[in-house]
Amino acid sequence: MRNKFLDKKGKFVVGDPMTDEIWDSFLPKKFKLLSPYQWTPIPVIERTWKYLSNEQVKSVVDLGSGVGKFCIYLSLLSKSSFPILGLEDREDLVVISDSLKTKWGVKNINWEKTNFLNQFPFGHSHYYCFNPLYETMKGNHSIDISKGKSAKQFLNDLQTFKQNLILLKPKTKLITFHGFGGSYLPGFKTLLKEEIVGGEFRVWEKE
Ligand SMILES: C[S@@+](CC[C@H](N)C(=O)[O-])C[C@H]1O[C@@H](n2cnc3c(N)ncnc32)[C@H](O)[C@@H]1O
Repeated sequence: MRNKFLDKKGKFVVGDPMTDEIWDSFLPKKFKLLSPYQWTPIPVIERTWKYLSNEQVKSVVDLGSGVGKFCIYLSLLSKSSFPILGLEDREDLVVISDSLKTKWGVKNINWEKTNFLNQFPFGHSHYYCFNPLYETMKGNHSIDISKGKSAKQFLNDLQTFKQNLILLKPKTKLITFHGFGGSYLPGFKTLLKEEIVGGEFRVWEKE
């Protein structure tokens, strides 16, 4: 059955002003309401593109890609000039991401429904995340009830995440918005740290 939210007309044109309100208006209502808490704000994606446009980018991975907002808008800004991979463990979010990608004819993005902690995607030049593990700690604005709340689970996941990140090749970049879950990332140094729309935007480099 066709997703009703896709009936909304509109097209993104690079150069036209974009706002969270416009982008989020293409989402089903439930996911639109979650946007301020769960999906990367447009100014953060624009800042990421400004940073990446001066970088040698082989490929970008969004670890926990949600409804695809970061990947799709980054691909539009970059004119799909590098491959982007969105990894997401919730099937319904992958379906929405793929529908939006098709609707706007965005190229060079792939989605995988996977838990990146189990099968970490090594070999990319740039990684992005918007605090994906924190959801097991948080009481409000959850995406759904599929994951239990447990501080122990959060700490275990964080440990696994760090064990994978430390295996990345030297010079690999990790870009975080609202962090990766911890304050110190062994084996990485901070290249850039800024406050954008009330959250910390940070670029880490593997030493
Ligand atoms: C805060 S949202 C950010 C979504 C997207 N990156 C964005 O910025 O718009 C975090 C996402 O990570 C996903 N996630 C959390 N843990 C994950 C895991 N271990 N594997 C794959 N996805 C995960 C959640 O389902 C959620 O969609």
